[in-house]
Amino acid sequence: MTVTDQQPPADDPEARTPATDPAADPAAGPAKDAARAALHDRIAADSLTTRRDYLRIVATVSGGLAVGGVAVASGVLHRHGDSEGAPEPKKVTEELPPGESIAFRYPGDEDRAVAVRLADGTLVGYSAVCTHLACAVLWRKERGEEGELYCPCHEGVFDARTGEVTAGPPPRPLPKVLLTEELDGSVWAVGTTRSGESVRDGLCRQFLDERPEMAARLRCPGAAEPEPRTERGRAT
Ligand code: FES
Repeated sequence: MTVTDQQPPADDPEARTPATDPAADPAAGPAKDAARAALHDRIAADSLTTRRDYLRIVATVSGGLAVGGVAVASGVLHRHGDSEGAPEPKKVTEELPPGESIAFRYPGDEDRAVAVRLADGTLVGYSAVCTHLACAVLWRKERGEEGELYCPCHEGVFDARTGEVTAGPPPRPLPKVLLTEELDGSVWAVGTTRSGESVRDGLCRQFLDERPEMAARLRCPGAAEPEPRTERGRAT
């Protein structure tokens, strides 16, 4: 499903997919909480999370990041990455085939975001709020070599792989939404980045206080030394 394919619900003029509509989310309620807790634990727990998980999180994210335009800079709009703490992981969709995208909200219920699976399988996520004047950014897979993110308000265009501005008036690239893919193919949003912030720095900022073991393993500034592991992957 693409952003432009989605039918807006009657109570919301913007695109929202069944996977992100709380009323239609199959993981809603206690099941959702359990799934969220399980994923959070899986990401964070020393015995279950390996460096490979970190690398996978980082590898599934590409592109630049930024705060938005005038409205964002003046504080009228919530910026992606404003939160100091780690946002709760959120299931974006059960699966995302190559060339497709899906609109969702993250980290807050008002924060428009978009996830895209590029033709080569790369998974990318961005704020869907244009950094010019905050119009909704859409995915156009038929444009360019691997599609593009497009803002129809003033013909703004962003690189699908990096989020960098390639045309039009947007002053900065799109902020990123950090995505990871589970073994069952489901796609989860696990964090965001700020303007000028690397993926690692974004993860460090969000994990330093709430997930110190994660911060330690990423060797974040200010984090404790990571504990040594035994052959079975458990800290001694
Ligand atoms: Fe997106 Fe102007 S609001 S290009």
